[in-house]
Amino acid sequence: MQTQVGIIGGGPSGLCLARLLSLANIQSVILERHDRAYVEARIRAGVLEQGMVDLLRKAEVSERMDREGLVHSGITLTFDDRFERVDLAGLTGGKHVVVYGQTELTRDLYDAVLKDANIQVVFNAKDVSPVGFLDDRPNLEFTTGAQRRKLRCDYIAGCDGYHGASRAAVPREMIVEYERVYPFGWLGVLADTPPVHDELIYSNHKRGFALCSMRSHTRTRCYIQVGLDEKASDWPDERFWYELCTRLPARFSDAMVTGPAIEKSIAPLRSFVAEPLRFGRLFLVGDAGHIVPPTGAKGLNLAASDVHYLSTALVAFYHQGRTDLLKRYSQVALRRIWAAVRFSWWLTSITHKFGSDPIEHKIQLAELDYLMSSTAGRTTIAENYVGLPFEPTFV
Ligand code: APR
Ligand code: PHB
Repeated sequence: MQTQVGIIGGGPSGLCLARLLSLANIQSVILERHDRAYVEARIRAGVLEQGMVDLLRKAEVSERMDREGLVHSGITLTFDDRFERVDLAGLTGGKHVVVYGQTELTRDLYDAVLKDANIQVVFNAKDVSPVGFLDDRPNLEFTTGAQRRKLRCDYIAGCDGYHGASRAAVPREMIVEYERVYPFGWLGVLADTPPVHDELIYSNHKRGFALCSMRSHTRTRCYIQVGLDEKASDWPDERFWYELCTRLPARFSDAMVTGPAIEKSIAPLRSFVAEPLRFGRLFLVGDAGHIVPPTGAKGLNLAASDVHYLSTALVAFYHQGRTDLLKRYSQVALRRIWAAVRFSWWLTSITHKFGSDPIEHKIQLAELDYLMSSTAGRTTIAENYVGLPFEPTFV
């Protein structure tokens, strides 16, 4: 088999990259470890920055998002029985975010990719192994059924998430990995109940963090901070809703409509960055190169900027023979990645319970009180939440 760009992983990063390349007439093959149903069933965050929205429009997969996505121009922070609205649009010159689940977005991408003559998807590709990328002879070896196969390509995009094969194939001495694992997780519940508020609520409570989000006007997505030793089965629905309500001011807990969970799971929180993101002809993209805690919903939006930069660089190579952008990819992508790593870490640090010493909570309340009293403080949250701009000189 042969193609121009070999893509490992058919999650949002790999699918979106393949679409943008195809629209520039560049061919790719996606090797995905699982089948379509498995990839689409994963429930992840659902807040899209303008950069991601623009990218989906450019990839010509935005029709349903443009119709069904919920435009949010503010978020609410609650702490110490206070609730404060951060006016995202008013503080950023009219910017907003769009609430649209990653599950839906992945479905839209597959609908387009599987009809696209420039893209071939190999599902159930096992034991994918990128080789030769350091000496200009990149190949992807993989197994389908009982057959070991080889895909020759010009470049490899590692879009295979945190546990993928691409980062693992890099010689250890060429890569530095920065990591922080947080001492808690998020227990998430999806339910067919109306959201308690028309915007997202991030709550700092002395019992721990809580978040009320949504997927639509009739589907709620909520989270509470839990210990790392806890299991979803420790949390029957009534216990979850009771704890969530306890962590919210009365005006929200009184209005909460509860219902049976249609999904319930615990996710750990991690900050992780690999440097660099390019190794010869192999590029790391999205979760393969970095992870952020979900506070602030930056994970998918960082994948968007990586995909934007890499697709721009590959188009410049195939259409104009330029390699300058491919050489700059890692440095330019990492700048925005570190900015989001910092914001997600900071928002986590002022909203979660880290230990049992009550002074920590008091200091968090003082910081939130200060931020809310200051236009500069509110603006710093709003600017980062709607998303920092992509590098304008990367063209
Ligand atoms: N071989 C082939 N495919 C693989 C391999 C492998 N060795 N390992 C993982 N994959 C596939 C997974 O099955 C998955 O479909 O790669 C895909 C990676 O998808 P994601 O983990 O969703 O990562 P990405 O596409 O970068 O999406 C951006 O940012 O913060 C998150 O929620 C956000 O999932 C989103 C991500
Ligand atoms: C979600 O809707 O799943 C969500 C929203 C905002 C976050 C994290 C997750 O910060």
